[in-house]
Amino acid sequence: MKDKEIVRKGFNEIALKYHAERNEELAEMKLLPDFVALISQGGKILDAGCGGGYPFTELLSEHFDVLGVDISEKQIELAKKNAPKANFQCIDMTKLSFPDEYFNGIFSYYAIIHIPRDEHFDLLVNFYRMLKPNGVALLTFHSEDDPSSYYDDFFDTNMFWSGFDAEKNIQMVKKAGFKIIWSKLIGDSLGDSKHLFVLLEKKQK
Ligand SMILES: C[S@@+](CC[C@H](N)C(=O)[O-])C[C@H]1O[C@@H](n2cnc3c(N)ncnc32)[C@H](O)[C@@H]1O
Repeated sequence: MKDKEIVRKGFNEIALKYHAERNEELAEMKLLPDFVALISQGGKILDAGCGGGYPFTELLSEHFDVLGVDISEKQIELAKKNAPKANFQCIDMTKLSFPDEYFNGIFSYYAIIHIPRDEHFDLLVNFYRMLKPNGVALLTFHSEDDPSSYYDDFFDTNMFWSGFDAEKNIQMVKKAGFKIIWSKLIGDSLGDSKHLFVLLEKKQK
């Protein structure tokens, strides 16, 4: 099975179990106010890999006009219930073709890490293109080198991850054109690993 099909099928199977682990006490929740503060009320936000929509899509949709996209049909179904003010599309985030300078902000928690890493740079370039000048992005990456890894027991199903180490991710976002506002390593609530979180800005040219 292709890697993205493993991810789509896996999250279709575990949508409810994964949702049960999401809550408003997660450490990464504390990073949201920095992102929210940089975007005007009502701004257009892309939540890429929105999952079941709780708590992040729901919270963002209290402030902004949010479009959640996800490759998993079941996650989108769940997200529509959890974040009724947001809009949703079931699509691979690497295939997005919104106009240039369309979004005020792009948010993506724990989703790029499920995409083969040879697609990460082009994804970032496309995020940069779709952001308005002075737009911001808050993204999660791996912190350790991981060409590809496969587990058969992620909430009892098969799952795929891929990504670069923190230093390479920092180089990559800069090469895509972003200015880094901050970067932080945060422990994963589901395991021992740490993830890199970056708050990025598309500088006005
Ligand atoms: C670990 S969950 C995180 C969900 C949510 N962002 C959160 O933090 O609660 C990762 C989500 O990314 C989605 N995803 C993975 N690869 C994707 C892709 N290529 N395009 C869109 N969504 C994708 C998965 O289906 C899953 O819902």
